[in-house]
Amino acid sequence: MVIPLILTGFGNVGKAFVRLLAEKHEDCRSRYGLDFDLVAVVRKTGAWMANKEGEFFNLAAPAAEPLESRPGWFPGMSLSEVLVRARRRGALVECTSSNWQTGEPQLEFLHAALNLGWHVAAASKGGLIVDFKNLQAKARSKKLSLKFSGATAAALPTLDVATVSLAGAKILGFEGILTGTTNYILSRLEQGLSFEAALKEAQAKGIAEMDPSMDIDGWDTACKVILIANAAAGTDFTINDVNVEGIRVVTSGALADARASGNSLKLLGRLFEEGGRYRAEVKVMPVPPSHPLFRLTGTSKGIVFRTDTMGTVAVTDGKSDPRGTAAAVLKDVINIFRDR
Ligand SMILES: NC(=O)c1ccc[n+]([C@@H]2O[C@H](COP(=O)([O-])OP(=O)(O)OC[C@H]3O[C@@H](n4cnc5c(N)ncnc54)[C@H](OP(=O)(O)O)[C@@H]3O)[C@@H](O)[C@H]2O)c1
Repeated sequence: MVIPLILTGFGNVGKAFVRLLAEKHEDCRSRYGLDFDLVAVVRKTGAWMANKEGEFFNLAAPAAEPLESRPGWFPGMSLSEVLVRARRRGALVECTSSNWQTGEPQLEFLHAALNLGWHVAAASKGGLIVDFKNLQAKARSKKLSLKFSGATAAALPTLDVATVSLAGAKILGFEGILTGTTNYILSRLEQGLSFEAALKEAQAKGIAEMDPSMDIDGWDTACKVILIANAAAGTDFTINDVNVEGIRVVTSGALADARASGNSLKLLGRLFEEGGRYRAEVKVMPVPPSHPLFRLTGTSKGIVFRTDTMGTVAVTDGKSDPRGTAAAVLKDVINIFRDR
């Protein structure tokens, strides 16, 4: 049976997802018995709806015609209209821009999809930050999957490890390098570059955004800590529950101290217990050579979970770019349907 997918957001990740789906389509069929078809793509200005099965392959071509000039483009059409028009239910692939203050547009999109019986695989995080408990309750009450691996450090498996591999264990805490940009800049500071030079270099290489504040002030890491903690440890954190410090505070003195003691400075997103309660913070900390995250330099990421029964479990690396993120979303889509 063909499983319909609807994509919201047709930027770097959305386009990478379409290309990856075309590339892996046959593999999904032969390895998992899953025949996915992308039936619609929703942008800010309207939506494209396929007229026939497999038409999405045309969108994946390197010099593909813009969606707006194709047959099946409906200016002004919203996701809600697309969902109503879809003949069968499947999964929403949510790749719009993330706004962790309003949650939009993801918040509206996730509620709309879940209300109408669609599973969700998300790369964006705004709505999940603002309203996770309600979204999770809605998905559970309707026996739908709400997955967001791509939003929690791209291809680095964080949620799957915490919720599947560590099932039955209590997560006592975790600490992660969850943002490649900040780790890259810290690595370059340790190699002697000034903050301004390291940031400029990261921007020139496309590692840092032109407005880098979301990353360097720690908010991107904070969002990932919230998502992982809420999904894995059952907390109900919002952005106000995390003490957030970015990497602008790093002084030459702190760098010299770390170097002298053989440590490495990392921006860590942490969940820990204090006074019988979970707490979360984002903080630059010296990490000793014995720590599993010590060797992670440049844009590498990693996370270390501490549990009551399984000891310490570390996962590192995984691609951080749009293709790696799209691959994490495809993994979620496969896992939603493979056992149903
Ligand atoms: N880039 C990465 O490597 C990466 C890694 C992990 C997670 N993510 C997350 O993945 C998401 C997408 O990232 P990206 O790099 O693809 O961003 P992007 O290139 O800026 O694309 C964002 C897309 O969101 C769409 N959008 C915004 N508001 C919308 C609305 N109201 N209705 C429909 N579409 C709307 C935009 O539509 P238009 O095209 O119509 O303007 C655009 O296509 C972000 O939330 C990001 O945090 C990205």
